[in-house]
Amino acid sequence: MSFARIPLLLFFLRLASSEQPSAPQPISAPLRELPWSKQVNFLHTTDTHGWHAGHLQEAQYSGDWGDYISFAHHLRKRADDEGSDLLLVDTGDRVEGNGLYDASSPKGKYTFDILKHQHIDVITPGNHELYIANTSRREFDEVVPDFKDSYIASNLDVYNPSSGKLQPLAPRYRRFTTKNQQIRVLAFGFLFNFHGNANNTVVQPVQETVKEPWFQDAIRTKDIDLFLVAGHVPVRDSEEYDLVYKAIRGVAWDTPIALFGGHTHIRDYRKYDKKAFGIESGRYMETLGFLSIDGLSTGKRGVGAMASPEFRRMYIDNNLYSLQHHSGTNKTTFGTDLGKNVSQAIRSARKQLKLDHTFGCAPRDYWLNRAPYPAEDSLLTLLDTQVIPDTFNHSLDRPSIVITNSGAMRFDIFKGPFTTDSTFLVSPFTSGFRMIKDVPYGAATQLLQLLNNQGQILLEDLAAMYGGEEHRLKDLLPPLAPVNAQTLSRNQVHIASSDQQIPLADKPSLPGYTTVDDAGSDGDDTIHQAIQFYDVPNCIASNIGFSATTVLETQGEEPDKLDLVYNEFIQDWVLLALRYLGQKYEKGQTKSALRGQTMTSVIEEWVGGHWGCDAKD
Ligand SMILES: *[C@@H]1O[C@H](CO)[C@@H](O)[C@H](O)[C@H]1NC(C)=O
Ligand SMILES: *[C@@H]1O[C@H](CO)[C@@H](O)[C@H](O)[C@H]1NC(C)=O
Ligand SMILES: *[C@@H]1O[C@H](CO)[C@@H](O)[C@H](O)[C@H]1NC(C)=O
Ligand SMILES: *[C@@H]1O[C@H](CO)[C@@H](O)[C@H](O)[C@H]1NC(C)=O
Ligand SMILES: *[C@@H]1O[C@H](CO)[C@@H](O)[C@H](O)[C@H]1NC(C)=O
Repeated sequence: MSFARIPLLLFFLRLASSEQPSAPQPISAPLRELPWSKQVNFLHTTDTHGWHAGHLQEAQYSGDWGDYISFAHHLRKRADDEGSDLLLVDTGDRVEGNGLYDASSPKGKYTFDILKHQHIDVITPGNHELYIANTSRREFDEVVPDFKDSYIASNLDVYNPSSGKLQPLAPRYRRFTTKNQQIRVLAFGFLFNFHGNANNTVVQPVQETVKEPWFQDAIRTKDIDLFLVAGHVPVRDSEEYDLVYKAIRGVAWDTPIALFGGHTHIRDYRKYDKKAFGIESGRYMETLGFLSIDGLSTGKRGVGAMASPEFRRMYIDNNLYSLQHHSGTNKTTFGTDLGKNVSQAIRSARKQLKLDHTFGCAPRDYWLNRAPYPAEDSLLTLLDTQVIPDTFNHSLDRPSIVITNSGAMRFDIFKGPFTTDSTFLVSPFTSGFRMIKDVPYGAATQLLQLLNNQGQILLEDLAAMYGGEEHRLKDLLPPLAPVNAQTLSRNQVHIASSDQQIPLADKPSLPGYTTVDDAGSDGDDTIHQAIQFYDVPNCIASNIGFSATTVLETQGEEPDKLDLVYNEFIQDWVLLALRYLGQKYEKGQTKSALRGQTMTSVIEEWVGGHWGCDAKD
């Protein structure tokens, strides 16, 4: 074995940073070693959603895009020194979900200039690049040219804004040879069969793409050592990647395939066969995925393939402690000029956007799905018992029910300053609230049950009955916990590899990812304590101006009619459910509530009015 599986215990190491100044110091923790290959190594990011400044309230993920640039530089140098290769892959959803992207006008004003300084070898679009016509247009105008040698769009077309003609967003595939090992790579870039895009792009279903002559010709290319399939597609349980895999295997039964996936925000690694593996590398710049392969054939004369190439993976926690360790650097040698410049550019963008402006200080952590619901430390409980009632008491003059979907919340609130940045993390959605007046009490009070899938009729049945758009069901559902299914079902620290038991540090390790995937449970670079995640309801409701318990106790004093208020985001579902309850309303009968204020501004105002900060906090 060229790498030790013994965790390194380096405690109390103080690290200076080129990460953002307000980022907390990473805390040292036991680490596993990078499974570096003498042949080809990959770094993979996905679903970064604008978090290029790193996590400023979570030490474990506090590395920024500049740090990633420095890190990649050191690994690339190691590869050059040894004659191996390093390739970088990004699989989309780079935008939406963080103030660094969302707070500027136009959105992404600073992001693209920051991103382009990383040398990425294969880059693909995600669905978030396509929801709004302006976003995909900027992808076409700026990002594709910034990465002109590496952007791939196998199944995505765009209407060219100047010619009005439909054309591929970027080349359908690329063939290249790696610098040092001369590995001959054929790369694709897919997006899952997404339907929610604006009308200036066209996503071709993958089942059609794999039948295209260009694709069929490409997979028959001679002398390919590795197929590289990158895409905004989950590596597991995805019809799209199964189709691509089968299509390639149909004509190249033996050529190794490396798949890079995304979209579901998890860490995952899947074995398709003994020469085909797929990695998915989390979300929000928390994770730098690492994949290495040994034993490929190459373009060099006389270098044949091993019978069975060796694929290995690791999920690196994105903080300076991990990055310096894996690159063999320290605080003085880590930051490169370019990396430091990019960190500086991020710092200055954050300053321009006033992302550190503080509205108040959270007295404790509030969890989205790391606490049960209801509970004192549940973010949803905070919303339905405090934020919503306090906000709507002043603006609704009649008994009302206010319904919010938990999917409208994206992230936890951490104890400490609640800043402009926090508002974008917690609730990045810009839709407002809608209202239906005079809904019969019975229907209004049964609505929540229906939306929470607790009645005799389920949401899917409702959609089937009335033709609701299936792809929007996801909008209603609570956010996925950022763990893979296996981790959910085994909420225990379980650290073992096939050949040896790794002793846990005496010191309790930090809570974090404890991934179990097709290669076992030794994939996370940092040895973590498992985090418990809970199921939370689709929707929560607050009663305003009446109390359900009083109504019950006093028997019959319930109001005849109520006003119903809800997130605009879930309007289709609300109307569908009301229709099932015998109340047919058209969109035209709904009206804007709360003077068009969004959830983001509701939370902002509430925090400002309720959470003070200690003078020197
Ligand atoms: C799209 O961008 C144009 C200019 O680039 C701007 O005028 C317009 O308001 C934007 N539209 C949206 C919906 O953001
Ligand atoms: C997209 O929709 C807009 C507004 O609804 C319309 O003006 C435009 O022609 C449509 N574009 C295409 C390519 O269909
Ligand atoms: C960092 O590494 C360099 C080169 O190996 C060494 O000269 C220097 O003393 C180290 N600095 C610290 C703070 O450990
Ligand atoms: C970093 O920024 C400085 C100051 O603006 C500039 O002189 C230098 O060329 C930049 N270095 C790199 C590698 O971009
Ligand atoms: C809003 O109404 C609820 C229930 O009627 C009450 O408990 C709460 O104190 C009120 N809040 C405000 C800010 O008036």
